[in-house]
Amino acid sequence: MARKDLIAGNWKMNATHLEAIQMVQKLGYRLDPGDYDRVDVVVCPPFTALRSVQTVIETDYLRIQLGAQNVFWEPQGAFTGEISAPMLAKLGVKWVVVGHSERRHIFGEDDAMVARKLRAVLANGMTPIVAVGETLEQREAEITEEVIGGQLQGALQGLDAGTVGALVIAYEPVWAIGTGRTASNEQAAEAIGFLRRLVGEGWGEAAAEMVRILYGGSVTPGNIAGLMAKRDIDGALVGGASLDPDKFASIVRYWV
Ligand code: 13P
Repeated sequence: MARKDLIAGNWKMNATHLEAIQMVQKLGYRLDPGDYDRVDVVVCPPFTALRSVQTVIETDYLRIQLGAQNVFWEPQGAFTGEISAPMLAKLGVKWVVVGHSERRHIFGEDDAMVARKLRAVLANGMTPIVAVGETLEQREAEITEEVIGGQLQGALQGLDAGTVGALVIAYEPVWAIGTGRTASNEQAAEAIGFLRRLVGEGWGEAAAEMVRILYGGSVTPGNIAGLMAKRDIDGALVGGASLDPDKFASIVRYWV
């Protein structure tokens, strides 16, 4: 069974809700109906813009899907400043990034926290996009596989094969994020192939064939086609270039 491409824009801490409305409207104009048949197109605005973006998607009948960049694992309670999975689900959010390297490195999230977030996302009927990636020091020390393998096992352990097959993994080498230094197509495909083998060993071949694995890190209209030509790479998680609707649309339409 062929895996459908998925291209997600992670807007990070950018765009007020007013700017976000314009961005998603522009993106909608630039995509053709046929694009959505080939690619799941996802945008992940900041929390404050989710409601506005959702309204634009609904009123303009866009097939852009809504994602969130983070979530807290408890459903409600005294957790000042946090946002729960039921709150996101109620807004029409379908996808939630968990374990982004900025969450891990700036906010100290560890594998156990990522695992709890992932379970909260699943329990509320949304799909996690589980991000893993090694730092430059770790790559140079040749421990990339241990690091990303450990992050993956930490997040996924205890899940059944059907659940693992249905989720999305994003390989984002930390040294390639926001640096303009993309992993080569071969480096990306190698790490992603390794992650897929790991899913096969842990959860069986069917799950490994089904699970979608994205690449993230300085993806641009210029390098997307080469990445997508690799059999194991099913899409991209795009940061900086997703803030420009023209650029993001040409990444989505990478075959044009
Ligand atoms: P850049 O595309 O800006 O390198 O960011 C990648 C990323 O972190 C997406 O989640």
